[in-house]
Amino acid sequence: MAEEKVKTIGVLTSGGDAPGMNAAIRAVVRRGLVKGFKIKGIRRGYLGLCNEEIIDMEADDVSNILQRGGTILETERYPEFAETEVQQKAVDICRKHGIDALVIIGGDGSFAGAEKLAALGLNVIGIPGTIDGDIGCTDYTIGFDTAINTAMRAIDNIQDTASSHERCSMIEVMGRNAGYIALWCGLACGAEQALIPETFDHNEKKVAEKILKHRAWGKNNNIIVNAEGAGTVDQIAEKVSEYSGISIRKTVLSYIQRGGSPTCRDRVVASIMGAMAVDILEDGGKNRVIAMKKDDYVDYDIHEALQMKGSVPAYMEGIMEDLAL
Ligand code: ADP
Ligand code: F6P
Repeated sequence: MAEEKVKTIGVLTSGGDAPGMNAAIRAVVRRGLVKGFKIKGIRRGYLGLCNEEIIDMEADDVSNILQRGGTILETERYPEFAETEVQQKAVDICRKHGIDALVIIGGDGSFAGAEKLAALGLNVIGIPGTIDGDIGCTDYTIGFDTAINTAMRAIDNIQDTASSHERCSMIEVMGRNAGYIALWCGLACGAEQALIPETFDHNEKKVAEKILKHRAWGKNNNIIVNAEGAGTVDQIAEKVSEYSGISIRKTVLSYIQRGGSPTCRDRVVASIMGAMAVDILEDGGKNRVIAMKKDDYVDYDIHEALQMKGSVPAYMEGIMEDLAL
């Protein structure tokens, strides 16, 4: 029997907000309307879906949002969504509102939720949106570029004062269990070390020795970036200080790096991925995750996508350390 064609598309954002999510929402809404679909926006991620916070979306609902950080649909973390009854409720609510397919903009946690909805018969399309850059199936996630540029500028500011006062500064960046933000900012800012969960062995003595080595070479200040997944700056800096005898100024960049107006790259990638989600549905696609691979836009079956593992390029770390003098 031929599958019913999708007529109504739902769209939601889930997990941590990321700059560029608005561009993706706008693209789903406008491309969807151009192609004759009805579009429904769901507020507050899976929580809002289960509370039936569902609104009809028209072209002017997404006016003037490209340049805004965060997500106009708002987002939530909703741990209860791991329960099958809650997932079934979400599917029933989609059916009740005539939603034939759901576009989910979020990270790998949100995709795990989407996979559960797919298993219950709802057609889902995932768009990678997280500042962490840590979704295995894709080389790029919406929000990463803005976050690293915001963090880079903040670290540049810290470097000005660190060099004026001949200080050692350690800056904690986000990334959850991944070190992409730390590594990119470390290399971009000339940091001597980036402590990332993928490679940091919690040998603070070694970190201290490297600082002392740089000081012996004549360096008057030190910049070290730590990814939150490698440990908090408070924990690490204290031990490094003890071993090196050098006082360390600590900064946690926190939500500063998650907010803010998206970069050109994030707006463009999000717009293309959002439009692609609609095109996939128009072509009869089911349960796909959109990704970027070697600068090309591709889509994968959601089960396959969730099995894929990314890796932090180890050579980046080596280059960063060799270039910092
Ligand atoms: P992200 O999508 O950015 O990785 P989270 O890991 O916080 O962010 O996941 C977002 C939401 O997705 C969670 O709050 C929860 O509602 C849902 N989710 C995460 N993991 C699962 C899972 N294994 N099963 C069902 N839903 C999940
Ligand atoms: O996934 C994005 C992210 O900002 C992570 O880098 C960080 O670990 C987490 O979200 C923080 O989450 P919350 O908004 O719940 O503090």
